[in-house]
Amino acid sequence: MQTPDNDSKFVVMWTGFMGWVDERFPATETFEYHMSKYHAPKNFNFWYYFGVLAIFMLFNQILTGIWLTMSYAPTESGAFASVEYIMRDVEYGWLIRYLHSTGASFFFLVVYLHMYRALMYGSYRGPRELLWLIGIAIFIAMMAEGFFGYLLPWGNMSFWAGQVIVSLAGAIPFVGADLMEWVRGDFLMSEATLNRFFALHVIALPLVLVILVFVHVVALHHVGSNNPDGIEIKKNKGPDGIPLDSVPFHPYYTVHDIHATVLFLFVFLAVVFFAPEMGGYFLEKPNFIEADPLATPDLIVPVWYYTPFYSMLRASTFPLFGMTAKFWGMVIMAAAIFMPAFLPWLDKSPVKSMRYKGILSKWALGIFITSFFVLGYLGTLHPTDIRTAIAQVGTMLYFLYFLLMPWYTRVEKTKPEPERVTG
Ligand code: HEM
Repeated sequence: MQTPDNDSKFVVMWTGFMGWVDERFPATETFEYHMSKYHAPKNFNFWYYFGVLAIFMLFNQILTGIWLTMSYAPTESGAFASVEYIMRDVEYGWLIRYLHSTGASFFFLVVYLHMYRALMYGSYRGPRELLWLIGIAIFIAMMAEGFFGYLLPWGNMSFWAGQVIVSLAGAIPFVGADLMEWVRGDFLMSEATLNRFFALHVIALPLVLVILVFVHVVALHHVGSNNPDGIEIKKNKGPDGIPLDSVPFHPYYTVHDIHATVLFLFVFLAVVFFAPEMGGYFLEKPNFIEADPLATPDLIVPVWYYTPFYSMLRASTFPLFGMTAKFWGMVIMAAAIFMPAFLPWLDKSPVKSMRYKGILSKWALGIFITSFFVLGYLGTLHPTDIRTAIAQVGTMLYFLYFLLMPWYTRVEKTKPEPERVTG
């Protein structure tokens, strides 16, 4: 009989230990179900990096957020000063703060690219409708999380942007004024508002986000991943029941994702170290001045990731049916955020991926993305008549992408989908 060498002694010990754990907790089973025996399509491309990067950024936000909270004071007199203290006196406080504030922008960037991938490859279509809806819930929770966090440094833009958004509630008929007071917890933006936004930002919404992301991944692993060809790999299984066009997630995609994360870190850290404020797009200039209820910033605009929707809010300029323009702006903005939720039922194409869709879908997506960018840019500027007119056209194009989808996806000529994944 062979005597085990040191390595195999370790293996025996480890197997024994895992056996002990597995009898009490499904550790190996879970690892196999979600990693080593989760069979993902073998043709994932660049666009499939952003899910894992979004998980990475969520962890970054939570970790750096915990460290920031250790030195941050959620009080009207202390908030701004405590952020300055973090930047100047706390060891590596500047790094932790920038990883968090620049991190928020990168988190949104990654998630926008992740959503765009779904639009390109029809990942929202059955059987992934619920996965998509969970994604929409994540997006809304992220928007709320960013909004509450933005108030915390108690800079002048925090104060006034918060004021503008909270005052939207005031446009709701009958209950508006009471609702606004209820949200603020006071007659104006004050420490009571800061305290509740702090509670929502540091515990309530991160908890919601973590739960939603967990459910998102569970739903994904239940139905299986889509791929750039938009065909279901489960339709072609080998005698062992494993899809022929798949590879086990671990080790193939774990290595692939580690590679992506390292490359992403080069870009993210280059921005953190060399352009953390990104010329005022990631951290706006008026936020380096303490909140002043008597001095409105020259231009009140939210951070870039909200500006497409903010532009749509401002594009509403006339009252209708006895309701104010502001009220309709709010309705349009809310509708724009919720509209993508209907995509699984609006897309009637016989194929999923843009690779096989017709020319109308390609143009529609191109126009949609262009209008989203234009709206985003306009949202960062002072509104003028011409800019408002462009924003109105952009808003219409945004909605037409969704509303005309049942028509253009039915009438256009599509290419036949391949039987097996390509490339
Ligand atoms: C915190 C934010 C999010 C995290 C951490 C996250 C995580 C992930 C991960 C790890 C995957 C699998 C890898 C990949 O396909 O890239 C995935 C797939 C997917 N996610 Fe997300 N996601 C987030 C937000 C969203 C949002 C906002 C949406 C849409 C509104 C969305 C829709 C989808 C869809 C449709 C898939 C399946 C894609 C396919 O198989 O082609 N996700 N997500």
